[in-house]
Amino acid sequence: MATIRLGDKAPNFTAESTEGTINFHEWLGDSWGVLFSHPADYTPVCTTELGTVAKYKAAFDKRDVKVVALSVDGLDSHKGWIQDINETQNTTVNFPIIADEDRMVSELYDMIHPNADSSATVRSVFVIGNDKKVKLMITYPASTGRNFDELLRVIDSLQLTAYHKVATPANWQKGEDCVIVPSVDTASIRSLFPKGYKEIKPYLRMTPQPN
Ligand code: BEZ
Repeated sequence: MATIRLGDKAPNFTAESTEGTINFHEWLGDSWGVLFSHPADYTPVCTTELGTVAKYKAAFDKRDVKVVALSVDGLDSHKGWIQDINETQNTTVNFPIIADEDRMVSELYDMIHPNADSSATVRSVFVIGNDKKVKLMITYPASTGRNFDELLRVIDSLQLTAYHKVATPANWQKGEDCVIVPSVDTASIRSLFPKGYKEIKPYLRMTPQPN
């Protein structure tokens, strides 16, 4: 298992999922992606998480992000559990869940942290850009359900950087001013940021959210 770092090409794999066999890179196509693991099927926090992701499908679609979940449980288990998620979370699971029984993907992405749990995956999140590079990694313990509003927030930030040469300051929320990335020289600012900019320090230049 090689360590995955930001900027690396996301390792490709072929795996079985609730929506058929997935070749990860082919499945991503030209879209962004989120690959996230959960510890186990038929567990309470995971049930709420996957229900929440299903409800957020339109928000991911709007950002051209495909979402795929994973645990080391089998396909039959996933399919049975989906009925419970749909029933208890009042939704319809609308994204694939990978059945990683042989732990191939979990090991490729270092999702099993033996000092936390020897066999179950932790709550890993990988955001993959449309260039197939790893843009973000977050790891939560089994006992903490993820904040998917935060995930959408960081995807918005990542896409602003990718498409508009801005970064986002601490606690940034959609619609707030952004930071012009340091690699943009002053001579190019006016043409790149027609909404204007404010230079607080030469290295701290703010502009209204460009998109
Ligand atoms: C849960 O999803 O509720 C959970 C899973 C493993 C450990 C603790 C909680």
